[in-house]
Amino acid sequence: MSDPRWSDVDDLIDAKLGTSDPVLDAALDANGAAGLPAIDLSAAQGKLLHLLVRATSARRILEVGTLGGYSTTWLARALPEDGQLVTLELEQHHADVARFNLARAALTDRVELIVGPAADSLAVMDATSPFDLVFIDADKEGNVGYLREALRLTRPGATIIVDNVVREGDILDPASADPKVQGTLALYDAVAAEPRLSATVVQTVGAKKWDGFLIAVVT
Ligand code: SAH
Ligand code: DHB
Ligand code: MG
Repeated sequence: MSDPRWSDVDDLIDAKLGTSDPVLDAALDANGAAGLPAIDLSAAQGKLLHLLVRATSARRILEVGTLGGYSTTWLARALPEDGQLVTLELEQHHADVARFNLARAALTDRVELIVGPAADSLAVMDATSPFDLVFIDADKEGNVGYLREALRLTRPGATIIVDNVVREGDILDPASADPKVQGTLALYDAVAAEPRLSATVVQTVGAKKWDGFLIAVVT
């Protein structure tokens, strides 16, 4: 299910508001040339996350799922000069491309990229310098675990955002055999059962089809 106008409207948003720029476009080109899947955020979505960082004055960001660093670039650019973003990526090849893209974006000083299974990287992180905003966008089967770690590693008032929580409506089938759907439904249940979280889901259409972001605030 997809309407070509969704993508056309994303192009129009980009043309009218100038959301993207040559550095971001170059990252997408480099990702494609390196054979990475085109599952980055759209420019309009990246700008949304960028604005949420600015609106909340976040200074420390945790990202789970780097890919080629496209979302990382949107997020890190919203940080003040002394801000920091830690991003976790399983695949060495993805991380290599991301490092290249982040260097071109002049963000190396603000971004720490840790390669390995995110669950392992998170397990050895401590909460002495808590994060203000967490963006979860890796394997969907791991989402409940990533949410637990995000709660452990954030301060009260922090924002937690999870990508791909609508999945073209596939979440409507509770008996789905797709482990990504099951991981997503388990995330909804975990969020609903967590008294420290107040949450909503924003459905989205556009170049990345029909999907959505879960947005939660830690109380
Ligand atoms: N946030 C990126 C897109 C991420 S795509 C953007 O919008 O630009 C999902 C990424 O999660 C992929 O690069 C994949 O390799 C990574 N990933 C998958 N399983 C993982 C795991 N267990 N730990 C860390 N990263 C993982
Ligand atoms: C997939 C992962 C993503 O993070 C995304 O935005 C789109 C697709 C995937 O694993 O297929
Ligand atoms: Mg995603």
